[in-house]
This record gives sequence, C-alpha cells and structure tokens, in this order.
Amino acid sequence: MASSNENLEEKRPLFGNRILTNNDNVFQHNAWDNVQWNDEQQKLAEKKVAENSVISVTEDQLEKYEKDADKYWDEFYGIHQNRFFKDRHWLFTEFPELAPDTVKYHSNSDAGDTASDSKASRNNDDHENCTTKELKIFEIGCGVGNTIIPILMYNINPNLFVYGCDFSSTAIEILKEHKEYDTSRCKAFVLDATQSEWNPPFENESLDIILLIFVLSSIHPDKHKHVIQQVYRYLKPGGLLLFRDYGRYDMAQLRFKKGRCLSDNFYARGDGTRAYFFTQDEIRNLFIESNFEEELNIVDRRLQVNRGRQLTMYRVWIQAKYRKPLK
Ligand SMILES: C[S@@+](CC[C@H](N)C(=O)[O-])C[C@H]1O[C@@H](n2cnc3c(N)ncnc32)[C@H](O)[C@@H]1O
Repeated sequence: MASSNENLEEKRPLFGNRILTNNDNVFQHNAWDNVQWNDEQQKLAEKKVAENSVISVTEDQLEKYEKDADKYWDEFYGIHQNRFFKDRHWLFTEFPELAPDTVKYHSNSDAGDTASDSKASRNNDDHENCTTKELKIFEIGCGVGNTIIPILMYNINPNLFVYGCDFSSTAIEILKEHKEYDTSRCKAFVLDATQSEWNPPFENESLDIILLIFVLSSIHPDKHKHVIQQVYRYLKPGGLLLFRDYGRYDMAQLRFKKGRCLSDNFYARGDGTRAYFFTQDEIRNLFIESNFEEELNIVDRRLQVNRGRQLTMYRVWIQAKYRKPLK
C-alpha cells in the first residue's frame, strides 16, 4: 500500500473468471484471473527473492523499525491522508458475510461518491426485509477505513456495530472525519495489536467477525501468533476471521531492492513501513495452532495489466476464512 503500484490491489475488480488462454491477448483487458505460473517464472521469482534477501541492516535499525512502527504509519497517513479510499469492490464478493443485507453496491463508482445514495437507501423500505440479528464486526489495523466505511455504507442491518483499531492515531483521526463515521454504528480507537494486553471497548468472546486485511503483513512475524491468539479471545464461539494479505512472490516482494530485507520474506519499504509475504501453509499453521477451523485458504493469483504502458504485474494474495469452534 505504500506505493502507487502496490496500491493496485485496490483496483482489483470483482473476482471473476477472465482467464488468459492466448498470451497475444494479454493487453486486451486490465486484469486476468487465476493465472498459472510456469516453472521458469517460479524460478525467476525465487532467484529475485534470494537476491534481495541478503540482510544488511544493523540490529539498531531493526530495533528502530519495530519501535517506531506506528510513527512510520503516522507519517504515511499524514502524507497520503485518505486517498486510498477507492475501488474496494471485491470486499462483498469475497466476504459476503460482511453485508448479508446490502443496499445495491455501485461497482463502477468511487465509494466516496455513493455515500449519499447509501444513506438514502438505509432510510427507506430496504430495512423491511433485512436481518436484524446483532452483528458485531471488528477490523484490526483498519487504517483510514477502506473496509469499515464500505461496510457502514452497504450493510443495512440496523443492529450492525463496527469496531476498528489501528496503532496510527493519524489514521484513526482521518477515519473519524469521514461523513459515514457515525458513533451510533461504529467506534474506532487506537490500539497496537502487538501489545500483550489489549483494553478494547468490547468483552471477550463478543464479536461475530474479525477482519485482518493487509495488516498482519505489516507486523513483525514473531508477533503474528500473539495477534491470532487475541483474535481467538475476542471472537464469539462460532465467530469468523476473514483474512486477505500479500502472498509469497507477489510483485511487491520481487521489487524490493537489496538492503531492504529485515528477515526471511519481511522487508522495510522506503518510508519505513514493513511487509511480510505469506505462504498458504504459514497462514494455515498460525490459525490451526491457535485452535481455529479452516473454512477457506486460497492463493489468488492475478495478472494486472497497464495497457497504456504495456506493463504486466503478477499479484499474489492469500485469502482465508477461519472459524472459532462452537464450544
Ligand atoms: C496496509 S495498511 C491496511 C489498512 C486497512 N486494513 C486496509 O485494508 O486498508 C496496514 C495497517 O495496519 C496498521 N498496523 C500495522 N501494525 C499495526 C499494529 N501493530 N497494531 C495496529 N495496527 C497496525 C497500519 O497503521 C496500517 O493502517
């Protein structure tokens, strides 16, 4: 997310089945789904990662990246503000649990422009047929609300409540300024998910859904397990964890230059924010060892195309759903 190219993940259209069968057609569309990598491409990716994985940062630098992690993100949001709030149209297709009852999603428009439409719809007859069962959703590392705001806009359940935390106080301030931020429906707060004790505004075992969307990757791998254990603690029995993040050999990983690697598959960007690149098995192990049941664990491989500049970009994301068992 820290560079405009990485942010292309935001432009991902609805999960589809546009399969590239003839390489001559590659520039006919902006994106192709389920791209298969051949051996040559896999080897090239492995070679690039082997090259950029030589660790040359000092212990002091490593410590600084960890100690000042929230400050780097504060600076990031200070510069970019909420400019990333766009085009997250895949959210409800991939995770329909977030809005089982929705107002019509305007898939070709900027979510920011449709805010007034959704407010209008929430006040009309849509409510008559929708679920009224309490639904409590919590996003860890919510940033400026790329996920929370669309949920508030399109989920019309009157008993929805959405929590979001981030350790960047700048991000939380920006989120609270959004016109859809309504304290009767949501609460955003500052929290570092790696700290041992949390003090959130909800009880243990009180949440229906927790979201980890492009956040675990920005946390030091030694602390991933702690975050997952906290997720377990706050989910209701039967509650669901929804996960989407960078996969191993994603274009963003291959692009790191030598000198940016902090530990295996973990890098610092130029602005000090960090990114880890997961395999499916790593995600599976993290959740299974914390007693979750797997419902989904897939690699989403997509070829994005910049037709103007005739560039191809191979993206790799891991998408997963894990359930806390009923007692
Ligand atoms: C790549 S952004 C993703 C933001 C948001 N989930 C989204 O999808 O737009 C990563 C976010 O995680 C937050 N973050 C990173 N480490 C965190 C931590 N230890 N505790 C809380 N938030 C953290 C950052 O401040 C940033 O907002």
